[in-house]
Amino acid sequence: MRSPHRHLVTGFLFFSLLLGACQAGIDAFQQNKKLGRAVNIIGYDPIWSSFEQARFKEKHFQLIKQAGFDSVRINLHAFRHMDKNTNFALSKDWLEVLEWAITNALNNELAVILDLHEFNAMGDDPTGTKDLFLAFWTQIAPRYKDAPDEVLFEILNEPCRSVTPQLWNEYMHQALAIIRQSNPDRTVVIGPAHWNTINQLNVLDLPEADRNIIVTVHYYEPMNFTHQGAPWSSHKDQIGIQWHGSEEEKQNIIRDFDKAQAWSKEHNRPLLLGEFGVFDKAEMPSRSRYLRFITRTVEGYGWSWAYWQFDKDFVLYDIDNDTWNQPVIDALIPKHP
Ligand code: BGC
Repeated sequence: MRSPHRHLVTGFLFFSLLLGACQAGIDAFQQNKKLGRAVNIIGYDPIWSSFEQARFKEKHFQLIKQAGFDSVRINLHAFRHMDKNTNFALSKDWLEVLEWAITNALNNELAVILDLHEFNAMGDDPTGTKDLFLAFWTQIAPRYKDAPDEVLFEILNEPCRSVTPQLWNEYMHQALAIIRQSNPDRTVVIGPAHWNTINQLNVLDLPEADRNIIVTVHYYEPMNFTHQGAPWSSHKDQIGIQWHGSEEEKQNIIRDFDKAQAWSKEHNRPLLLGEFGVFDKAEMPSRSRYLRFITRTVEGYGWSWAYWQFDKDFVLYDIDNDTWNQPVIDALIPKHP
Protein backbone atom coordinates (compact mmCIF):
# COMPACT_ATOMS: atom_id res chain seq x y z
CA MET A 1 0.00 0.00 0.00
CA ARG A 2 1.57 3.30 -1.15
CA SER A 3 -1.22 5.60 -0.14
CA PRO A 4 -0.15 8.80 1.68
CA HIS A 5 -2.68 7.85 4.32
CA ARG A 6 -0.86 4.64 5.04
CA HIS A 7 0.80 5.91 8.23
CA LEU A 8 -2.41 7.45 9.39
CA VAL A 9 -4.31 4.20 8.86
CA THR A 10 -1.62 2.08 10.51
CA GLY A 11 -1.43 4.59 13.35
CA PHE A 12 -5.16 4.51 13.82
CA LEU A 13 -5.22 0.72 13.79
CA PHE A 14 -2.41 0.57 16.30
CA PHE A 15 -4.14 3.10 18.53
CA SER A 16 -7.43 1.20 18.35
CA LEU A 17 -5.69 -2.03 19.25
CA LEU A 18 -3.92 -0.37 22.15
CA LEU A 19 -7.13 1.18 23.41
CA GLY A 20 -8.90 -2.14 23.04
CA ALA A 21 -6.15 -3.89 24.95
CA CYS A 22 -6.22 -1.32 27.74
CA GLN A 23 -9.97 -1.43 28.04
CA ALA A 24 -9.96 -5.22 27.94
CA GLY A 25 -7.37 -5.21 30.71
CA ILE A 26 -9.55 -3.27 33.08
CA ASP A 27 -13.02 -4.56 32.36
CA ALA A 28 -14.63 -5.03 35.77
CA PHE A 29 -16.88 -7.83 34.48
CA GLN A 30 -13.84 -9.75 33.21
CA GLN A 31 -12.11 -9.12 36.49
CA ASN A 32 -15.13 -10.47 38.34
CA LYS A 33 -14.92 -13.66 36.27
CA LYS A 34 -11.35 -14.04 37.48
CA LEU A 35 -12.56 -13.82 41.08
CA GLY A 36 -14.99 -16.65 40.36
CA ARG A 37 -15.04 -18.83 43.46
CA ALA A 38 -13.15 -17.37 46.40
CA VAL A 39 -12.53 -18.04 50.06
CA ASN A 40 -11.80 -15.60 52.88
CA ILE A 41 -8.44 -16.29 54.51
CA ILE A 42 -6.14 -15.42 57.45
CA GLY A 43 -8.21 -12.61 58.97
CA TYR A 44 -7.92 -14.10 62.44
CA ASP A 45 -4.67 -16.05 62.05
CA PRO A 46 -1.81 -15.46 64.55
CA ILE A 47 0.41 -15.05 61.48
CA TRP A 48 0.08 -11.26 61.63
CA SER A 49 1.80 -11.08 65.01
CA SER A 50 4.15 -14.02 64.64
CA PHE A 51 4.97 -15.73 61.37
CA GLU A 52 6.24 -18.76 63.32
CA GLN A 53 2.84 -19.27 64.91
CA ALA A 54 0.93 -19.13 61.67
CA ARG A 55 -1.83 -21.69 61.24
CA PHE A 56 -2.12 -20.93 57.54
CA LYS A 57 0.98 -22.16 55.67
CA GLU A 58 2.28 -21.87 52.14
CA LYS A 59 0.85 -25.27 51.20
CA HIS A 60 -2.70 -24.05 51.87
CA PHE A 61 -2.59 -21.76 48.83
CA GLN A 62 -1.92 -24.78 46.67
CA LEU A 63 -4.66 -26.80 48.36
CA ILE A 64 -7.13 -23.98 47.78
CA LYS A 65 -6.20 -23.79 44.11
CA GLN A 66 -6.34 -27.56 43.66
CA ALA A 67 -9.79 -27.71 45.24
CA GLY A 68 -11.06 -25.46 42.46
CA PHE A 69 -11.00 -21.96 43.92
CA ASP A 70 -10.04 -19.02 41.71
CA SER A 71 -9.20 -16.41 44.30
CA VAL A 72 -8.75 -15.48 47.94
CA ARG A 73 -10.04 -12.52 49.94
CA ILE A 74 -7.44 -11.56 52.53
CA ASN A 75 -9.04 -9.94 55.58
CA LEU A 76 -6.73 -7.23 56.90
CA HIS A 77 -6.93 -6.00 60.50
CA ALA A 78 -4.25 -3.44 59.88
CA PHE A 79 -4.92 -0.63 62.37
CA ARG A 80 -3.16 -2.31 65.30
CA HIS A 81 -0.04 -2.59 63.14
CA MET A 82 0.13 1.12 62.29
CA ASP A 83 2.38 3.42 64.28
CA LYS A 84 0.63 6.57 65.53
CA ASN A 85 3.97 8.29 66.09
CA THR A 86 5.17 7.98 62.49
CA ASN A 87 2.19 8.98 60.34
CA PHE A 88 0.50 5.64 60.95
CA ALA A 89 3.24 3.74 59.13
CA LEU A 90 2.41 0.05 58.70
CA SER A 91 4.92 -2.16 60.49
CA LYS A 92 7.62 -3.81 58.46
CA ASP A 93 6.75 -7.27 59.80
CA TRP A 94 3.09 -6.86 58.93
CA LEU A 95 3.94 -5.73 55.41
CA GLU A 96 6.20 -8.75 55.00
CA VAL A 97 3.37 -11.11 55.87
CA LEU A 98 1.13 -9.32 53.40
CA GLU A 99 3.78 -9.59 50.70
CA TRP A 100 4.19 -13.31 51.46
CA ALA A 101 0.44 -13.87 51.17
CA ILE A 102 0.04 -11.96 47.91
CA THR A 103 3.08 -13.61 46.32
CA ASN A 104 1.95 -17.10 47.25
CA ALA A 105 -1.59 -16.51 46.07
CA LEU A 106 -0.38 -15.22 42.69
CA ASN A 107 2.19 -18.03 42.37
CA ASN A 108 -0.72 -20.44 42.69
CA GLU A 109 -2.77 -18.55 40.11
CA LEU A 110 -5.22 -17.25 42.66
CA ALA A 111 -6.47 -13.69 42.30
CA VAL A 112 -6.30 -11.68 45.53
CA ILE A 113 -8.63 -9.18 47.15
CA LEU A 114 -6.95 -6.99 49.78
CA ASP A 115 -9.89 -6.38 52.09
CA LEU A 116 -9.49 -3.74 54.80
CA HIS A 117 -11.43 -5.49 57.56
CA GLU A 118 -11.49 -2.71 60.17
CA PHE A 119 -15.27 -2.43 60.15
CA ASN A 120 -15.63 -2.70 63.92
CA ALA A 121 -13.11 0.00 64.80
CA MET A 122 -14.57 2.29 62.15
CA GLY A 123 -18.17 1.53 63.01
CA ASP A 124 -17.46 2.45 66.64
CA ASP A 125 -15.57 5.65 65.93
CA PRO A 126 -15.49 6.88 62.33
CA THR A 127 -13.95 10.23 63.21
CA GLY A 128 -11.22 8.78 65.42
CA THR A 129 -10.25 6.14 62.83
CA LYS A 130 -10.52 8.22 59.67
CA ASP A 131 -6.80 9.11 59.60
CA LEU A 132 -5.86 5.46 60.00
CA PHE A 133 -8.28 4.47 57.24
CA LEU A 134 -6.88 6.99 54.74
CA ALA A 135 -3.28 6.34 55.84
CA PHE A 136 -3.80 2.65 55.13
CA TRP A 137 -4.70 3.27 51.49
CA THR A 138 -2.08 6.02 51.18
CA GLN A 139 0.53 3.33 51.91
CA ILE A 140 -0.96 0.20 50.34
CA ALA A 141 -2.04 1.73 47.01
CA PRO A 142 1.39 3.01 45.84
CA ARG A 143 3.06 -0.08 47.25
CA TYR A 144 1.04 -2.30 44.91
CA LYS A 145 0.69 0.06 41.96
CA ASP A 146 2.66 -2.30 39.70
CA ALA A 147 1.00 -5.49 40.94
CA PRO A 148 -0.80 -7.55 38.29
CA ASP A 149 -4.50 -6.95 37.55
CA GLU A 150 -5.26 -10.02 39.67
CA VAL A 151 -4.66 -7.96 42.81
CA LEU A 152 -7.81 -6.04 43.79
CA PHE A 153 -8.37 -3.51 46.57
CA GLU A 154 -11.50 -3.61 48.75
CA ILE A 155 -11.86 -0.25 50.47
CA LEU A 156 -13.62 -1.42 53.65
CA ASN A 157 -15.47 -4.54 54.78
CA GLU A 158 -19.03 -3.99 56.04
CA PRO A 159 -19.28 -0.28 56.85
CA CYS A 160 -21.64 -0.27 59.83
CA ARG A 161 -23.09 1.44 62.92
CA SER A 162 -21.73 5.02 63.08
CA VAL A 163 -20.44 4.78 59.52
CA THR A 164 -23.82 5.83 58.17
CA PRO A 165 -24.63 5.44 54.48
CA GLN A 166 -23.95 9.18 53.98
CA LEU A 167 -20.65 9.07 55.82
CA TRP A 168 -19.65 5.91 53.98
CA ASN A 169 -20.17 7.61 50.61
CA GLU A 170 -17.93 10.45 51.76
CA TYR A 171 -15.15 8.24 53.20
CA MET A 172 -15.28 5.84 50.27
CA HIS A 173 -14.87 8.66 47.72
CA GLN A 174 -11.85 9.95 49.59
CA ALA A 175 -10.18 6.53 49.77
CA LEU A 176 -10.94 5.84 46.11
CA ALA A 177 -9.38 9.16 45.11
CA ILE A 178 -6.22 8.21 47.01
CA ILE A 179 -6.15 4.81 45.30
CA ARG A 180 -6.71 6.28 41.83
CA GLN A 181 -3.69 8.63 42.18
CA SER A 182 -1.31 5.68 41.97
CA ASN A 183 -3.62 2.96 40.57
CA PRO A 184 -5.69 4.39 37.72
CA ASP A 185 -6.35 0.88 36.38
CA ARG A 186 -6.73 -1.13 39.57
CA THR A 187 -10.05 -2.93 40.07
CA VAL A 188 -11.57 -1.73 43.33
CA VAL A 189 -14.22 -3.59 45.32
CA ILE A 190 -16.85 -1.47 47.09
CA GLY A 191 -19.95 -2.48 49.01
CA PRO A 192 -22.96 -0.67 50.44
CA ALA A 193 -23.36 0.49 54.05
CA HIS A 194 -25.11 -1.43 56.85
CA TRP A 195 -22.84 -4.47 56.69
CA ASN A 196 -22.79 -4.57 52.87
CA THR A 197 -26.48 -5.33 52.82
CA ILE A 198 -28.35 -5.60 49.52
CA ASN A 199 -31.00 -3.18 50.80
CA GLN A 200 -28.49 -0.34 50.89
CA LEU A 201 -27.31 -0.64 47.29
CA ASN A 202 -29.67 2.14 46.28
CA VAL A 203 -27.88 4.73 48.37
CA LEU A 204 -24.37 3.68 47.43
CA ASP A 205 -23.02 6.67 45.53
CA LEU A 206 -20.35 5.38 43.16
CA PRO A 207 -18.49 7.75 40.81
CA GLU A 208 -20.35 7.24 37.53
CA ALA A 209 -17.27 7.59 35.36
CA ASP A 210 -15.24 4.99 37.23
CA ARG A 211 -16.18 1.69 35.61
CA ASN A 212 -13.39 -0.36 37.16
CA ILE A 213 -15.36 -1.22 40.27
CA ILE A 214 -16.82 -4.52 41.45
CA VAL A 215 -19.69 -4.09 43.86
CA THR A 216 -19.83 -6.45 46.82
CA VAL A 217 -22.71 -7.56 49.03
CA HIS A 218 -22.74 -9.92 52.02
CA TYR A 219 -25.54 -12.35 52.77
CA TYR A 220 -26.24 -14.31 55.95
CA GLU A 221 -30.05 -14.56 55.83
CA PRO A 222 -31.84 -16.07 57.61
CA MET A 223 -29.61 -14.92 60.47
CA ASN A 224 -31.22 -17.24 63.04
CA PHE A 225 -30.07 -20.15 60.89
CA THR A 226 -26.59 -18.98 59.77
CA HIS A 227 -25.58 -17.44 63.11
CA GLN A 228 -27.14 -19.99 65.50
CA GLY A 229 -24.84 -20.53 68.46
CA ALA A 230 -22.38 -17.83 67.34
CA PRO A 231 -21.15 -16.16 70.56
CA TRP A 232 -21.21 -12.60 69.13
CA SER A 233 -24.67 -12.89 67.68
CA SER A 234 -28.12 -12.32 69.18
CA HIS A 235 -28.86 -15.89 68.02
CA LYS A 236 -26.18 -17.40 70.23
CA ASP A 237 -28.65 -19.22 72.49
CA GLN A 238 -30.77 -20.85 69.83
CA ILE A 239 -29.46 -23.91 68.08
CA GLY A 240 -31.13 -26.70 66.14
CA ILE A 241 -32.52 -24.37 63.47
CA GLN A 242 -32.69 -26.17 60.18
CA TRP A 243 -32.77 -25.07 56.57
CA HIS A 244 -34.76 -27.55 54.56
CA GLY A 245 -34.49 -25.94 51.17
CA SER A 246 -38.26 -25.60 50.86
CA GLU A 247 -39.71 -23.49 48.07
CA GLU A 248 -40.51 -20.75 50.56
CA GLU A 249 -37.00 -20.75 52.04
CA LYS A 250 -35.50 -20.59 48.58
CA GLN A 251 -37.84 -17.83 47.43
CA ASN A 252 -36.90 -15.67 50.43
CA ILE A 253 -33.30 -15.75 49.25
CA ILE A 254 -34.12 -15.36 45.56
CA ARG A 255 -36.20 -12.27 46.32
CA ASP A 256 -33.19 -10.61 47.95
CA PHE A 257 -30.77 -11.69 45.23
CA ASP A 258 -33.19 -10.52 42.52
CA LYS A 259 -33.09 -7.03 44.04
CA ALA A 260 -29.31 -7.01 43.84
CA GLN A 261 -29.38 -8.37 40.31
CA ALA A 262 -31.84 -5.67 39.20
CA TRP A 263 -29.56 -3.02 40.70
CA SER A 264 -26.54 -4.55 39.00
CA LYS A 265 -28.27 -4.52 35.60
CA GLU A 266 -29.58 -0.99 36.01
CA HIS A 267 -26.17 0.36 36.98
CA ASN A 268 -24.11 -1.97 34.80
CA ARG A 269 -21.87 -3.06 37.68
CA PRO A 270 -20.65 -6.63 38.37
CA LEU A 271 -21.43 -8.19 41.75
CA LEU A 272 -19.38 -10.19 44.22
CA LEU A 273 -21.05 -12.02 47.10
CA GLY A 274 -18.05 -11.31 49.31
CA GLU A 275 -19.23 -13.20 52.42
CA PHE A 276 -21.77 -15.88 53.20
CA GLY A 277 -21.65 -19.01 55.31
CA VAL A 278 -23.18 -20.94 58.19
CA PHE A 279 -21.65 -21.05 61.69
CA ASP A 280 -20.29 -24.42 62.82
CA LYS A 281 -23.06 -25.06 65.36
CA ALA A 282 -25.69 -25.67 62.68
CA GLU A 283 -26.39 -29.28 61.73
CA MET A 284 -24.44 -30.32 58.67
CA PRO A 285 -27.22 -31.47 56.30
CA SER A 286 -28.91 -28.04 56.56
CA ARG A 287 -25.62 -26.25 56.26
CA SER A 288 -24.70 -28.20 53.20
CA ARG A 289 -28.11 -27.68 51.50
CA TYR A 290 -27.95 -23.94 52.18
CA LEU A 291 -24.36 -23.52 50.88
CA ARG A 292 -25.13 -25.50 47.77
CA PHE A 293 -28.20 -23.41 47.08
CA ILE A 294 -26.45 -20.08 47.66
CA THR A 295 -23.43 -20.86 45.50
CA ARG A 296 -25.29 -22.41 42.58
CA THR A 297 -27.85 -19.57 42.62
CA VAL A 298 -25.19 -16.88 42.68
CA GLU A 299 -23.31 -18.56 39.86
CA GLY A 300 -26.54 -18.60 37.86
CA TYR A 301 -26.65 -14.81 38.14
CA GLY A 302 -23.04 -14.57 36.95
CA TRP A 303 -21.72 -13.13 40.22
CA SER A 304 -18.49 -14.16 41.88
CA TRP A 305 -18.54 -15.38 45.49
CA ALA A 306 -16.24 -15.68 48.52
CA TYR A 307 -17.02 -18.20 51.24
CA TRP A 308 -16.62 -17.14 54.88
CA GLN A 309 -14.09 -18.62 55.85
CA PHE A 310 -11.12 -21.03 55.51
CA ASP A 311 -10.17 -21.42 59.18
CA LYS A 312 -11.20 -20.30 62.70
CA ASP A 313 -14.98 -20.60 62.47
CA PHE A 314 -17.46 -21.44 59.70
CA VAL A 315 -14.55 -23.81 59.05
CA LEU A 316 -13.87 -24.93 55.50
CA TYR A 317 -10.50 -26.55 56.18
CA ASP A 318 -9.55 -28.37 59.37
CA ILE A 319 -5.95 -27.21 59.75
CA ASP A 320 -5.30 -29.28 62.88
CA ASN A 321 -6.19 -32.52 61.12
CA ASP A 322 -5.06 -31.39 57.71
CA THR A 323 -8.30 -32.17 55.95
CA TRP A 324 -11.17 -30.42 54.20
CA ASN A 325 -14.48 -30.08 55.95
CA GLN A 326 -15.84 -32.48 53.38
CA PRO A 327 -19.57 -31.64 53.26
CA VAL A 328 -18.72 -27.93 53.08
CA ILE A 329 -16.24 -28.19 50.22
CA ASP A 330 -18.57 -30.62 48.43
CA ALA A 331 -21.36 -28.07 48.67
CA LEU A 332 -19.24 -25.14 47.52
CA ILE A 333 -17.38 -26.86 44.68
CA PRO A 334 -19.32 -29.94 43.64
CA LYS A 335 -16.81 -31.30 41.17
CA HIS A 336 -13.62 -30.56 43.06
CA PRO A 337 -10.80 -33.03 42.38
C1 BGC B 1 -16.45 -10.85 60.56
C2 BGC B 1 -16.38 -12.09 61.38
C3 BGC B 1 -17.73 -12.77 61.48
C4 BGC B 1 -18.39 -12.90 60.12
C5 BGC B 1 -19.78 -13.49 60.22
C6 BGC B 1 -17.11 -11.13 59.26
O1 BGC B 1 -17.16 -9.98 58.49
O2 BGC B 1 -15.15 -10.38 60.38
O3 BGC B 1 -15.87 -11.80 62.65
O4 BGC B 1 -17.53 -14.08 61.97
O5 BGC B 1 -18.42 -11.66 59.47
O6 BGC B 1 -20.53 -12.85 61.19
